[in-house]
Amino acid sequence: MQELFKILTSSVGRKILMAITGLSLSLFMAFHLFGNLFLFVGEAAFNSYVNKLHKLGFLIRIAEFFLVLFVMSHAYSGILLWIKNRKAKKVVASYSKENTSSSARTAAFTGSIVFIFLATHWSTFWYKFNFDLQGMSYYYVVTESSVGFGSPFVSFFYIIAIALLGYHLKHGIASAGQTLGIVGTKYEKIYNNVSSIFWFWIPLGFISIPVWFGFIVRVI
Ligand code: HEM
Repeated sequence: MQELFKILTSSVGRKILMAITGLSLSLFMAFHLFGNLFLFVGEAAFNSYVNKLHKLGFLIRIAEFFLVLFVMSHAYSGILLWIKNRKAKKVVASYSKENTSSSARTAAFTGSIVFIFLATHWSTFWYKFNFDLQGMSYYYVVTESSVGFGSPFVSFFYIIAIALLGYHLKHGIASAGQTLGIVGTKYEKIYNNVSSIFWFWIPLGFISIPVWFGFIVRVI
């Protein structure tokens, strides 16, 4: 047990933890997008999907517990590694523009915005859906209410934050591939191809929701 703790708190252990939690959260995003796309099917379809999900009861609470745990440990390890890198002069020197991509250099910034986004997202959508529906339909909360895309400010915030999330994942997934030893093997090409689904297409799918419900349906 002590050994495991030692490994997990070493720099390499932290990087492995970040890779595993980051990739798991990316997988969750695929499921989450699938559910959210029911918004385009219509009010009845989306409400029925959420009702079915809520019927899973305790299982959903366990999944949410792990999601929060993964987000927290990913952010915590990220902050510790960032501080360590800044302190080590040598690493700072190798962090120059020539050696790293801009998505890598801005990972701490984009990660912080994603964290703020998630805190806002949970305290509005998740809280409303679970504790404060006030007789509104789930569909209405997302598409019309002031915490949802009824507010142009919220819609705009979602678009920017999710675009930054995609940018964060661009670096994150590539870095996870390196940490887990996929880069340089025969799986590298397929890994890179699949990764674009997660850092580009899935965020784009999410962005289509505030773009459509927050702006397009209001002008057509
Ligand atoms: C247009 C974009 C999005 C919409 C409309 C949306 C909608 C929702 C809703 C309605 C809930 C509450 C579900 C419930 O309790 O029944 C929720 C929860 C959650 N969302 Fe999102 N979401 C969006 C984007 C994202 C993104 C980009 C992430 C990033 C990882 C994310 C992560 C989560 C998490 C972790 C939860 C809590 C777990 C859960 O209850 O499923 N969401 N979202």
